[in-house]
Amino acid sequence: MAALLLAIALCISASLSPCTLAAAGGGKPLVTAVTKDPATLLYTSPLKDKHPLVLDLAGPLIWTTTCDASHPTFECHHHECAHAHRYHPPSCPHSGYGKADDEDRFRCKCTAHPHNPFSGETETDDLTRTTLSANATDGKNPLYPVSFPAVTSCAPKSLLAKLPAGAIGVAGLANSRLSLPAQVSRTQKVPKKLLLCLPRSGVREGDGVAIFGGGPFFTLTSVVGGESGPDLTLDLTYTNLAAKPHNPAYYLPVKAIAVGKSLVPLPADALTSTGGGVAFSTRAPYTSLRHDVYRPFVNALDAASGWKDFKVPAVKPFELCYNSSFLPNTRVGHLAPDIDFVLPDGKNYTIGSLDSMIDLDDFRVACFAFVEMKAHKTGAPAVEIGGFQMENNVLQFDLDKMQLGFARVPIFMACSNFNFTLAGHY
Ligand SMILES: *[C@@H]1O[C@H](CO)[C@@H](O)[C@H](O)[C@H]1NC(C)=O
Ligand SMILES: *[C@@H]1O[C@H](CO)[C@@H](O)[C@H](O)[C@H]1NC(C)=O
Ligand SMILES: *[C@@H]1O[C@H](CO)[C@@H](O)[C@H](O)[C@H]1NC(C)=O
Ligand SMILES: *[C@@H]1O[C@H](CO)[C@@H](O)[C@H](O)[C@H]1NC(C)=O
Repeated sequence: MAALLLAIALCISASLSPCTLAAAGGGKPLVTAVTKDPATLLYTSPLKDKHPLVLDLAGPLIWTTTCDASHPTFECHHHECAHAHRYHPPSCPHSGYGKADDEDRFRCKCTAHPHNPFSGETETDDLTRTTLSANATDGKNPLYPVSFPAVTSCAPKSLLAKLPAGAIGVAGLANSRLSLPAQVSRTQKVPKKLLLCLPRSGVREGDGVAIFGGGPFFTLTSVVGGESGPDLTLDLTYTNLAAKPHNPAYYLPVKAIAVGKSLVPLPADALTSTGGGVAFSTRAPYTSLRHDVYRPFVNALDAASGWKDFKVPAVKPFELCYNSSFLPNTRVGHLAPDIDFVLPDGKNYTIGSLDSMIDLDDFRVACFAFVEMKAHKTGAPAVEIGGFQMENNVLQFDLDKMQLGFARVPIFMACSNFNFTLAGHY
């Protein structure tokens, strides 16, 4: 409390210059814009000198290809080096914590394994410290720019394959010590929370929002000259997240899946963490399901929708598509049956019509936006909740409590309606 008063006093006395002190210790969350790349359907934020990093909700590390010749390196016995090696990328040989430093052969220089989850490639490169930037926020506007140090891995430019044009790395957002939310929490003295509101590209394009440090979170209403709506974090439903050993991703503890209130018959342990589980992932543009879950799930959707007569040939990558001229079309979408992910404590994580169906206007068809996983690797989730299903939803991940707060953004608002006008006091 005393420190806070002192900070405020110092801020006021320094009011002629930009008040950066609040950023140093005053604990303001940071906000950044989230752009959906139309080519790859991946999400990026301009975190490194205004250059975009790809957001990876299941990634444990931040890496960039911008290390210059004089970048600092860590010693192998540094605790950050141990943290960088906590989660080992799939199919990457273990090669220790580092190697002899070219400058000083008696020094062991820490290396990390930056991983590109979209191409599947992994590299070995220096663990370094760099500067990232975002804006402080009160949940309504960006207030003032903030630069902060972050432990990141260097990476060669070849690791950028399959990332959006212009992206210079990946920002891991998972529950690890070196993920972006964890590092912002330590440098800004804010709660270890990540709030995501991903944008839906389409008619009204615009940026969504990520807030590091937690809510409040306001967006403008979609009506012309829209004013600020309510704090959307007041209406969240909370559930404990599940975790898998040696895996920093966020798992939803789903007990059963129901379509139109009927339980989908699934293999006994498919939804448990040993049998695969249900994870959030910004790597997949659409929710993808393992074959043994996908088949009964789409059969249930097809039956419960009652639209068999309007079915049209599949439009890749989707299977269940219907002639949209015949579907009910309302403000809440095509009135498809609700998909309930049944959670403990009688709660549901529900995917409604707006998030279950995609309109492919060029074909005049609407499809259920779910896909079958191509190949399933051991240990991978049985269901990955993908980007489309997270869009226009407020998802607040609390890394300390391992809790998720979630809510659909009301239909008269959108994640792309955040007021990005700078409202700072200089
Ligand atoms: C801060 O917000 C302003 C206004 O939206 C934006 O122009 C600027 O790029 C942001 N800065 C960072 C570092 O994201
Ligand atoms: C949760 O979903 C199940 C299955 O559809 C349903 O029976 C139950 O009523 C739902 N509970 C709530 C609180 O909506
Ligand atoms: C949808 O139905 C209309 C009316 O019968 C028809 O003209 C159109 O070709 C159909 N579209 C598709 C994609 O089947
Ligand atoms: C957006 O924020 C700015 C700065 O606080 C404010 O002046 C403006 O009125 C806001 N826009 C709307 C539509 O409320």
